[in-house]
Amino acid sequence: MPRYRDEQWRDSMRVRLDYNNMMTDFLGERGIDPADVQGLLPRLNDALTELARKRENGETAWRDLPTNQETVVKKIEKIADEIRDSFDTFVVLGIGGSALGPIAVQQALNHPHYNELADEDREGPRLYVVDNIDPEKMQALWDVVDPEATCFNVITKSGSTSETMSQFLIVSDLLKDMVGEGWQEHIVATTDAEKGNLIKIARQEGFTTLVVPDGVGGRFSELCPVGLLPAAVCGIDIRELLSGAAYMDEFCSELDPAKNPAAMAAALQYIAMGSGKNISVMMPYADSLRYVAAWYAQLWAESLGKKVDVDGNVVNAGQTPVAALGVTDQHSQVQLYTEGPYDKVITFLTVDEYRDTHYIPSGYEDIPAVSFLGGHTLDGLIQAEQAATEYALTKAGRLNRTIRLPEVNAFTIGQLLYLMEVETAVTGELLCINTYDQPGVEEGKNATYALMGRPGYEEKKKELDSRPQKKDQYIL
Ligand code: PA5
Repeated sequence: MPRYRDEQWRDSMRVRLDYNNMMTDFLGERGIDPADVQGLLPRLNDALTELARKRENGETAWRDLPTNQETVVKKIEKIADEIRDSFDTFVVLGIGGSALGPIAVQQALNHPHYNELADEDREGPRLYVVDNIDPEKMQALWDVVDPEATCFNVITKSGSTSETMSQFLIVSDLLKDMVGEGWQEHIVATTDAEKGNLIKIARQEGFTTLVVPDGVGGRFSELCPVGLLPAAVCGIDIRELLSGAAYMDEFCSELDPAKNPAAMAAALQYIAMGSGKNISVMMPYADSLRYVAAWYAQLWAESLGKKVDVDGNVVNAGQTPVAALGVTDQHSQVQLYTEGPYDKVITFLTVDEYRDTHYIPSGYEDIPAVSFLGGHTLDGLIQAEQAATEYALTKAGRLNRTIRLPEVNAFTIGQLLYLMEVETAVTGELLCINTYDQPGVEEGKNATYALMGRPGYEEKKKELDSRPQKKDQYIL
């Protein structure tokens, strides 16, 4: 029986939200008054009811990914086995939500130097995620990756993202050249079932395809084939990942906010935003969770950063996410967090049991300021530093909260990602905005199309050409 079916083990692996240091009890007047939370309850109840309605209506299909993908998971496991047997490298081509999730999960759950391990020490092929169109980086890929021995997973929900389609054109051209007949077997396309250009091309070429379901937008897609295939290829237990998300769903579906960590987290963030806390810092105390913070940054920024509410009123909503890393950023950003403007909520991600320990040997007994470290462990030190930073921030009246992982494994990562997704969705409801669109990136996209000569964008090109020319006097 897999461990995630053992109730006792599951409960021992529960990810917890500790929001003590958000409250007046600990922060005095700088904290959130429990009465304010109480006052928000009617709206929070409405938000949870609305989310439940949307889920029932199938408008938020991402909510059900933890439990409704049995057939998909079987297909993914089969494809992943075939890829492991046939290729020594797996490259993801994608951007935004189609890249950050796969990066975050791989970094969290596989060896930190996974690609450098010997073949026999890895559970799958080497993994690269090409999440940009930087020409130097793209060219450099061919110095370490042999296309003939590589499977490329093109991931784009819309099937039309210029960055991803450019990568695809480069790769398919290379494969045609180097592999010739059968080059199509080097590509797996993950995209919408019907919409977009990639599905048309995939059908024409006969690529293996996986579907991004309707109602699952990029930044909410890690638990669908977007994230599951790369994870499965690299030996991650995707069933345990989904089971963790399903476990968290039980708590996040509670209509009583006092029992629902996503609802409480959202309520506190919403109240904090109302008092000018415009920045949300995510600070994991584990290198393995570093890219979870980057993934969260996209989720929070793109979902909540909106000009208008659902009724069209200009609200300019949002909270700027910042990804930090403990303890590294204690020597970089924490000075600002402790003494700068009172405009932040800091979220620590902590780990109770690291997967490894490392002793600090004794030495230099004649120098007590060095020798006191001897006999401790690095895990003890990193935990002490987190506790100390939390103490210092609380003492300085800074809103902070902690999301505690008993350890980093597929079950806890599934919980963590799902918790943050639901927190984002509840916050979006409280802000009365559309959490799932991103109109603010359209203007830039259209301008790019115009500059690159896409048919149909001639008017936009004229508009761009007539924009005010930059003045030399302002360029030094
Ligand atoms: O969250 C989102 O919707 C975006 O960040 C998308 O993931 C990103 O723009 C890439 O889109 P697509 O998957 O359609 O290529």
